[in-house]
Amino acid sequence: MPADLAAPAPPEAGSVRPPLSPNALRRLVRDLAERPERWLHRVRLSGEDRWYERLELAPDYEVWLISWLPGQSTGFHDHGGSRGAFTVALGELEELALAGPEHGLTVRRLTAGAERAFGPQYLHDVRNTSPGPAVTLHAYSPPLARMSRYELRAGGLARTATEGPEQW
Ligand SMILES: [Fe+2]
Repeated sequence: MPADLAAPAPPEAGSVRPPLSPNALRRLVRDLAERPERWLHRVRLSGEDRWYERLELAPDYEVWLISWLPGQSTGFHDHGGSRGAFTVALGELEELALAGPEHGLTVRRLTAGAERAFGPQYLHDVRNTSPGPAVTLHAYSPPLARMSRYELRAGGLARTATEGPEQW
């Protein structure tokens, strides 16, 4: 068989796929938000804390469905070096993000249809400050391996804890 018709070589052991870009993750959550038949029936609400369920786990990305009752929030956190994107499928949220040391805190109202995409260094706090429930779709690449939590103090954000998948 000519070399160019040979089956492709299997990936090298230990090879890692490059992560998806923030824009690719944004398209992924947007496409999913437009197909509620794939996730709407799974949504639950929890009075204790945000409710969440993983919809998809691939070697290079994962997708989560999250619901938020009024007052529920994440607190400031990173994504352990993963890139990410999310969209508000139902309801309304608020996002606080540090846009860099010289820019201070940015507050965004995220209404239904809003999308955010971010790189591996991004820190934010997402909260439901609205009077009704909200539902969001999130994608991360590579899949989340750990997350650190931060507190906003006078001098900026201070890391307070690091969690692995066993905590979520
Ligand atoms: Fe996040």
